[in-house]
Amino acid sequence: MKFGHFDDENREYVITQPDTPLPWINYLGCQAYFGIISNTAGGYSFYRDARLRRLTRYRYNNAPMDSGGRYVYLRDDESREFWSPSWQPTRHELKDYSCRHGMGYTVIGSTYNGIEAHTRYFVPLNENLEIWQLTITNRRATKASISTFASIEFCLWNAQDDATNFQRNLSIGEVEVDDNVIYHKTEYRERRNHFAYFASSLPCAGFDTQRDAFLGRYRGWDKPAAVEAGRLTNSIAHGWSPIGAHQVKLDLEPGETRQIVFVLGYHENPDDRKFDPAGSQTINKTLVKPVIRKYLDPAAADAAFERLREYWESLLGIFQANTPDIHTNRMVNIWNTYQCMATFNMSRSASSFESGIGRGLGFRDSNQDILGCVHMVPARARERLLDLAATQLPTGGAYHQYQPLTKRGNNDIGGGFNDDPLWLILGVSAYLKETGDWSILDEPTPFDSQTGSEAPLYEHLQRSFRYTLERLGPHGLPLIGRADWNDCLNLNCFSSTPGESFQTTTNKDGKVAESVFIAGLFVQAGRELAAIASRRELNREAASYLDAVAKMEQVVNKHGWDGEWFLRAYDDLGVKIGSKECEEGKIFIESNGFCVLAGIGLNDGKAAKALAAIEKHLATKHGIVVQQPAYSRYYLNLGEISSYPPGYKENAGVFCHLNPWVMIAETRLGHGDQAHDYYKRINPSAREGISELHRCEPYVYAQMIAGKDAPSFGEAKNSWLTGTAAWNYYAIVQWILGVRTTLDGLEIAPVIPKNWPGYTATRRFRGVVYKISVARKGDGNHIALTVDGSPIEGNIVPPPADGRKIVSVKGILT
Ligand code: GLC
Ligand code: GLC
Repeated sequence: MKFGHFDDENREYVITQPDTPLPWINYLGCQAYFGIISNTAGGYSFYRDARLRRLTRYRYNNAPMDSGGRYVYLRDDESREFWSPSWQPTRHELKDYSCRHGMGYTVIGSTYNGIEAHTRYFVPLNENLEIWQLTITNRRATKASISTFASIEFCLWNAQDDATNFQRNLSIGEVEVDDNVIYHKTEYRERRNHFAYFASSLPCAGFDTQRDAFLGRYRGWDKPAAVEAGRLTNSIAHGWSPIGAHQVKLDLEPGETRQIVFVLGYHENPDDRKFDPAGSQTINKTLVKPVIRKYLDPAAADAAFERLREYWESLLGIFQANTPDIHTNRMVNIWNTYQCMATFNMSRSASSFESGIGRGLGFRDSNQDILGCVHMVPARARERLLDLAATQLPTGGAYHQYQPLTKRGNNDIGGGFNDDPLWLILGVSAYLKETGDWSILDEPTPFDSQTGSEAPLYEHLQRSFRYTLERLGPHGLPLIGRADWNDCLNLNCFSSTPGESFQTTTNKDGKVAESVFIAGLFVQAGRELAAIASRRELNREAASYLDAVAKMEQVVNKHGWDGEWFLRAYDDLGVKIGSKECEEGKIFIESNGFCVLAGIGLNDGKAAKALAAIEKHLATKHGIVVQQPAYSRYYLNLGEISSYPPGYKENAGVFCHLNPWVMIAETRLGHGDQAHDYYKRINPSAREGISELHRCEPYVYAQMIAGKDAPSFGEAKNSWLTGTAAWNYYAIVQWILGVRTTLDGLEIAPVIPKNWPGYTATRRFRGVVYKISVARKGDGNHIALTVDGSPIEGNIVPPPADGRKIVSVKGILT
């Protein structure tokens, strides 16, 4: 069953039934001001940091779910009936309900009793505000008198504190109301220089800023007393819960349409110009008023919306493909790309599953996110990589996370996740391949954010590599530390205390437990680093990296191979994990996927065997699970992984982040059919028809789909903010379609399904537009390329020597 449909032409997903299995959200904003918005107008907004600068309230874990949002109510002032055009919070039965989630905007609307209303929500580029454009049309044969109420609930900035520190917070709320604008200024009198505002373009018949006055006692947002009465009370909040609510009265002739613009925004004043008059406690509004006035004008709002459209048009235009598969096209051309930008912007902070008060930016997560967005925002990717590297420790180790506001490593979580540093090499390498900007390697970059410790970025890469080499275990495999990619495989933790963090508790000295996955990652990173070194003519150094890689491959072959697949790890007692000798957890995806992706075992049959074992033991119709058999009980020596019930999360769930590793591995063996088959199994669009089971949004990837051991096999969770976005994008674009960035230029090496006659694509790359067409003439993966009509040798298209800006590349697959 579906709850809507794709509108590919407009790059929208159109939800036509409001009671989706979960809130189906979208993101507003792309630079500093952000919001999440659900299909029924739920969600919240924040400036830069979802924890520390939360503008509006949202109630996670609420019943009914998805409570708190950008709510509009309409009231028929004759019949006194009121409803919400976005369905929530009143939940009236609506006609023609639709929610169009598009690129950086959402339009929600419906018709009720002949009154049609739509609200378009978006954040203009380069502004710290959001616009709600509400359009109301009277479809009745008679005149209508309609009261419009727009409302939000302010958050007292720090979302964590806001949800817990009531003894203080219920006394500090402050607002000002001036000229149809409500200002929320809690703590502005003292140490803050910022405030929020909520403005209406049409004169207000009334307002409310105190929640209880608006809702009435013991009432919820579904039935505000003031809306029911048809009259707001002009309340001024002193303490308690400040809100913003505007009432605008409209008399509409039959067929008449009116528009109201509401603007919700954030503003910072210079410290010495906070008050007007100086010495008073009144907000100085001289700097903010022109901004508010500008966007309350519908024409300015429309123009800002056009610019937002152009922005996305230009980002998405960098790569577009036309393949025989609609689900591939839709994800590659629209939604997967869009999701990659969301993960880059948000990291893992704010979604329906991430409360915005949890994690900072993950070191490994952020490096992997680069893979999916570096072609769109190379300058921001560069900045992100340098920020990440600046938190690296002098040992080459990494803080597991850093805080976006301070850009410092997070001491609470610390480091010791031994895969972390290697991802920096992959991130920087992806940047170099995309941009050819070698200057990044010379950028002076501190260690542990300490001024004076700066060394060229390149040295950070060297230390990352050495970090692994200096931490090898009894078999010569990399020591795992607190965890590797799998945050929940905690081999040095041995926790028996409820609530203790599996990630930061370490009971063992860490000198025994080893990771075959890190070995695979090391091999891949070592090859990338060697390629970078040799382009810098550091040939001896490059050779030494390749030497270390070759040695690691030998160790993997000797101690990391289980006969039919790669082992996963050795635990603190030196006992195998992910082996046929194990009772549970005999085979894992991470080590098998990544070792083959890194090229281990390609020539001696191990790679093929490992992939066959994945297909046999781990692949399901809903994707490839993490391991089998699932752990059925808690193992002290394994950590959080065995704390999850079988089939969920890292305990044998389908972790969608890992599936593309196997897809890429399959392409390395030339298996286009298998690679694309795996791709389709977790492709959200291809799963749209089973939305009732899948439950999450059909337009973006979820972190996890319940595995076959779970009662809810096939049900997705943790949509949007996951490394799944970048990796699936990278797998389909660079390895299956094979439009691949390399240090030397753009490579075309498709490994596509046998029954595809080919595909076409355009790629803007280093200032040139490549118009690519691939035609299949035989069953294999050998490609012969002609560039502007002349055959070339090899797969890498040379950059045009004569300054041509458009190049045609034709490939024949045989
Ligand atoms: C989450 C984390 C990521 C980790 C993965 C597996 O996605 O953000 O860092 O690799 O879980 O545990
Ligand atoms: C990852 C895992 C999650 C774990 C968390 C701890 O996100 O997916 O299961 O609890 O890491 O940081």
